Amino acid sequence: MVDGLSKMILIYFCVVCLYATQAAAVNRTFEVGYKTFLKDGEPYRYISGSIHYSRVPHYYWKDRLMKMKAAGLNTIQMYINWNVHEPKPGKYNFTGQQDVVQFMKIAQDVGLDVVLRAGPYICGEWEMGGIPPWVTKNNASIVLRTIDPQYLAAVDRWLSVLLPTIKPMLHINGGPILMVQVENEYGSYFACDYDYLRHLRLQFINYLGTEALLFTTDGAGENYLKCGTLEGLYSTVDFGPGDAVNYFKPMQKWEPNGPLVNSEYYTGWLDHWGSPHSQRDIPSIVNTLKQMLDLGASVNMYMFEGGTNFGFMNGANGAHPGFQPVPTSYDYDAPLNEAGDPTPKYMAIRDLLAKYNTGPLPPVPPALPKYAYGTVQMKFVSTVVEALHTLSPEPVQYKWPLSMEQVNQNYGFIVYRHLLRKNYTSPTLGCLGVRDRAYVMIDKQPQGIMNGDGPNSLNVSIVAGQTIDIIVENQGRINFGTSINGNWKGLIQNVTMGTEVLEDWEIFPLPLDNINEETLRKLEHSARSSPHLGALKQGGYHGKADTVVLTPSLYKGTFQAPNKPGFLRDTFLNMDGWFKGQAFMNGFNLGRYWPVKGPQVTLYVPSGVLKAYPAENDLVMMELEWAPCAMNNNQIGDDCTVKFIDTPIINSTSIAVSQFGHSP
Ligand SMILES: *[C@@H]1O[C@H](CO)[C@@H](O)[C@H](O)[C@H]1NC(C)=O
Ligand SMILES: *[C@@H]1O[C@H](CO)[C@@H](O)[C@H](O)[C@H]1NC(C)=O
Ligand SMILES: *[C@@H]1O[C@H](CO)[C@@H](O)[C@H](O)[C@H]1NC(C)=O
Ligand SMILES: *[C@@H]1O[C@H](CO)[C@@H](O)[C@H](O)[C@H]1NC(C)=O
Ligand SMILES: *[C@@H]1O[C@H](CO)[C@@H](O)[C@H](O)[C@H]1NC(C)=O
Ligand SMILES: *[C@@H]1O[C@H](CO)[C@@H](O)[C@H](O)[C@H]1NC(C)=O
Ligand SMILES: *[C@@H]1O[C@H](CO)[C@@H](O)[C@H](O)[C@H]1NC(C)=O
Repeated sequence: MVDGLSKMILIYFCVVCLYATQAAAVNRTFEVGYKTFLKDGEPYRYISGSIHYSRVPHYYWKDRLMKMKAAGLNTIQMYINWNVHEPKPGKYNFTGQQDVVQFMKIAQDVGLDVVLRAGPYICGEWEMGGIPPWVTKNNASIVLRTIDPQYLAAVDRWLSVLLPTIKPMLHINGGPILMVQVENEYGSYFACDYDYLRHLRLQFINYLGTEALLFTTDGAGENYLKCGTLEGLYSTVDFGPGDAVNYFKPMQKWEPNGPLVNSEYYTGWLDHWGSPHSQRDIPSIVNTLKQMLDLGASVNMYMFEGGTNFGFMNGANGAHPGFQPVPTSYDYDAPLNEAGDPTPKYMAIRDLLAKYNTGPLPPVPPALPKYAYGTVQMKFVSTVVEALHTLSPEPVQYKWPLSMEQVNQNYGFIVYRHLLRKNYTSPTLGCLGVRDRAYVMIDKQPQGIMNGDGPNSLNVSIVAGQTIDIIVENQGRINFGTSINGNWKGLIQNVTMGTEVLEDWEIFPLPLDNINEETLRKLEHSARSSPHLGALKQGGYHGKADTVVLTPSLYKGTFQAPNKPGFLRDTFLNMDGWFKGQAFMNGFNLGRYWPVKGPQVTLYVPSGVLKAYPAENDLVMMELEWAPCAMNNNQIGDDCTVKFIDTPIINSTSIAVSQFGHSP
């Protein structure tokens, strides 16, 4: 008996020994084989979903990744957003929300591989496609995504930091990254600069080694593949629901022997302010997904979890005129919604993927509970014009307006101030380079809006000695196409009165990164005046003139979470009744709101930006156009409110009507 047991223990140890030796001996590889990928020598197909760490609060990364695993995915696909890691030239951030290595480690712990899209350009409806705006500071004419030496110098410095950071995370080095994408849909870009792609390939190989599998992604058309692919980079395509067999044909021309890959299979689509919310129906998505899986293809669903463009991080499409900024929500009609909750689309995809999984799928983690914190009283704090010296303590003097980039500002608002020195018989104020939307005040009285899309001039009543303030909103840099170039923000042309160029300006950068308790205390203690009413003479909202507007102003409200220990839940800020602006929760920039444009009406407020009872939560709004407060003798009341609700509204447009009966 004892003998037998010893024998068994011995055998057990030997098996463990053998297993351990074998495991250590297995070479970790990821390669292209005949019609399939080979992972550690075995055929492998990835079923992946896109999630962007920059669009999901870091404390929710694990929650979202577990839900992706539970949907039947074995892989995630992610971008690297250069601009969040290098906010200033040579100053890097890989911590907190920017801790991309931690994000990948969580994915690996959860059992997900990673397909990494390393950029440097990513598109992704992200500010300037992820390129930091300071890259163009010294020269607005530099040609991005080419061998332009000014661009390449910034790229090379960045890659020398990024690629060594991610190298240990490659599958071949023990991490989760299977393969790394070079550039992004380069074949859609006008330049078709093979030297640029060759340069990037060389950099990637230098830092990652020759064993790392590198790839490209392009639209599913030969025209795209022609300029987007390069020897030594595996060519993949992207397309939405439809006939997958047909869509894969161009790729097969480039890669006749390798696996089929759809790197962006569209589960939904992006939104623009002023356009209906995009939706894609479930059956079409499930059917084409099934078709691709039956073809043996590797598939990445774009997006699987869209998330949020917090702060000023949304991109834009088109170009002035015809500029189309992307809203704050990046819900994308994806299987997991903006707040990370499983949707019917998620369940349908999971039902399908269950059939392609060998074992049972993990149970679906429940949606995180939401809470309606209710109505919050908003009090007027200050007009933006009167808050300028507090919000922007270091203004710049210059003869002519400077762009945001020229004053070392990346994002947000910027204010241009000029003291008029003489009288004009018919004063018409104009600027041919408004990027993107400008509020004009004369001696604090609002005059109207100038827009990059037009109108770009206003007839004003002004006499010598009066002050012009122009508050300009950067609505997000273009992320796609030729127009990613020449993308400077603020006023990028001179301001004229009639035919004369106005000289001598005071320029106030307004990145709004200091909406904190100290700033508010200062503002609340300084002389309070009311938000001045004014008749908008031209350039009214949605083509209507004579709309009454207020001077852009700050409002503040406070509230407490329910009196339960540690109680904090996600919520949605319903902007119905307000017009356009920026909202901040305890200093965190929740993003832009513009409910009168739609389709987004609520802002997602993740629990991590809130404080538990009994702490006070500070909500600050910078409202640019109209606040739903009662007016008496041009003085604003303290009776305006805003409401937190427990469900999002991103498919609507609020119909705010001012008490004067003017609709937006
Ligand atoms: C692993 O790779 C090394 C170097 O290429 C090779 O010498 C070795 O035989 C490989 N081992 C296995 C188990 O494939
Ligand atoms: C890096 O980013 C985090 C936000 O995730 C921020 O809290 C931190 O201050 C930044 N670090 C530096 C050095 O700027
Ligand atoms: C700006 O960049 C363009 C494109 O590379 C170049 O032609 C031009 O000479 C540059 N201008 C200056 C002032 O460096
Ligand atoms: C400008 O016009 C106003 C109103 O007509 C007048 O009072 C003022 O003296 C004029 N100023 C100059 C500098 O001409
Ligand atoms: C300004 O006034 C002039 C003359 O009255 C008029 O011709 C012009 O159209 C007006 N401009 C704008 C932008 O309204
Ligand atoms: C503004 O006008 C001045 C003087 O005419 C000119 O030197 C300058 O280049 C102009 N700036 C822009 C951005 O056009
Ligand atoms: C918006 O979406 C909600 C939830 O799916 C739906 O109930 C509502 O009817 C939609 N509204 C519009 C205007 O489409």
